[in-house]
Amino acid sequence: MQKKVRTAVFPVAGRGTRFLPATKASPKEMLPIVDKPLIQYAVEEAVAAGAEKLVFITGSSKRAIEDHFDSDPMLESALAQSGKHDLVQLIRDIVPAGVTCIYIRQGEPLGLGHAVLCARPAVGNEPFYVHLADDLIDNDPPCLQQMAAEYQRHGGSVIAVEAVPANETSRYGIVAVDAENDNRITKIVEKPAPADAPSNLAVVGRYLLDAAIFDKLQNTGRGAGGEIQLTDAIADLLADMPVHAYSFSGDRYDCGSKIGYLKATVAYGLQHPETGESFRAHLKELLG
Ligand code: UTP
Repeated sequence: MQKKVRTAVFPVAGRGTRFLPATKASPKEMLPIVDKPLIQYAVEEAVAAGAEKLVFITGSSKRAIEDHFDSDPMLESALAQSGKHDLVQLIRDIVPAGVTCIYIRQGEPLGLGHAVLCARPAVGNEPFYVHLADDLIDNDPPCLQQMAAEYQRHGGSVIAVEAVPANETSRYGIVAVDAENDNRITKIVEKPAPADAPSNLAVVGRYLLDAAIFDKLQNTGRGAGGEIQLTDAIADLLADMPVHAYSFSGDRYDCGSKIGYLKATVAYGLQHPETGESFRAHLKELLG
């Protein structure tokens, strides 16, 4: 029996340059998919997977994320006075009871690896999730929950992967796995050119990591793109303990890119109980 994973880290300090100008003064993670910001989908997924401590690694222009997860007595009383009790409940439920939010500033966006290292004082010596909110994954059970079940089976660290077209390897961390050995990762490379990629299995934004990663991150220098890469620290970890690749089930939308964001909006808009029917009719009319 493995330890329960109680902590989730949300690195939200990136600059979000692919979404400028929308992300100039407001965080990419606050972009809504229908009626919820990306970061709220992320929190819901982590809480469903057992997280009770939520650690946000924030940077400049990210205040809106703290405000979103804070209580707002003035808004609650204004809604209550106008009889909108369902909306009062809706905003109270954004952070479920028993869940704590911790915010840590990443002084400078030096890379995902550096962002994760910033979480160390809040995580301690426990296994933890890392969730990248701009990778939205639609499935029930949610991806982190699937990974937690996998972790209970064999321990170690677990990283979500997805097969990508060969010409896209240079956008991702790419792994080679030992399929005979619970998909244990044998090699991981950040953003390789297609010719150098060890496979077409790409790391996506869900990790369940052993706390041993922090010592590795401490010694990780700047890698691809001049950033401190989580991938490089994971490459160091492989020699010491098992890291497994997990092919999740579900549809992933890269909401850090414009096209991924639009696809997610359409998929979630079609599923939403309030908008689904009329949105479908509208799309049919629009597309002939
Ligand atoms: P991305 O590679 O998507 O970078 O980061 P970005 O800055 O957010 O977006 P673009 O590429 O400029 O459009 C992956 C995740 O890591 C976080 C980001 O917030 C995102 O969730 N991150 C990245 C940090 O928290 N700190 C960093 O220094 C870098």
